[in-house]
Amino acid sequence: MAILIGDTAPDFTADSTEGPIHFYDFIEGSWAVLFSHPKNFTPVCTTELGYTAKLKPEFDKRGVKVLGLSVDKLEDHAGWAKDIEETQGTALNFPLLADTRGEVARLYDMIHPNADNSLTVRSVFVIGPDKKVKLKIEYPASTGRNFDEVLRVIDSLQLTANHSVATPVNWKNGEDVIISSSLSTEAAKEKFPDGWKEPKPYLRIVPQPRA
Ligand code: BEZ
Repeated sequence: MAILIGDTAPDFTADSTEGPIHFYDFIEGSWAVLFSHPKNFTPVCTTELGYTAKLKPEFDKRGVKVLGLSVDKLEDHAGWAKDIEETQGTALNFPLLADTRGEVARLYDMIHPNADNSLTVRSVFVIGPDKKVKLKIEYPASTGRNFDEVLRVIDSLQLTANHSVATPVNWKNGEDVIISSSLSTEAAKEKFPDGWKEPKPYLRIVPQPRA
């Protein structure tokens, strides 16, 4: 059965470029991004992994652990890592699973048989410290993902996990947010004593809460 937002992320143990990974130990109360790429030594994947490595300090700042997945062999990862560093200017700085039997890929429905029988699509799962799936994105092999968007969504997920707000279209960290519909006017007055803009009773806009 497909893994959906709100489901508990399944646990697994698999080999990686940084040794065996037991997923729940790896998460260890942090946020995590688990993402698959279809194949080593391919152009789009090379750019994606290089860019994700470049963004590692941004993931670290947000307390997010990054874990890549490939159904290729561990030996191949080492050779490809050199190409990634050479062509993208950043060395791999997060573990890459070698899921050669496709066990983790199947567990997370990363193989879409009508797209390809053995290679994964480009899946992204963001998993919270509670091990629940907070975000799921899927792209076809031919389209590279936007990892700046993954960071943007993480900013929203972390903010909305801690405050009674939601983030509007194209929101970026620091911009105004929307008071949750579930918050009554009385409760909103307590949480947002400086008030809010209210173009409609269901659209209550406040500056982004800090911390
Ligand atoms: C790529 O990364 O360029 C790629 C990988 C698998 C299928 C198609 C494209």
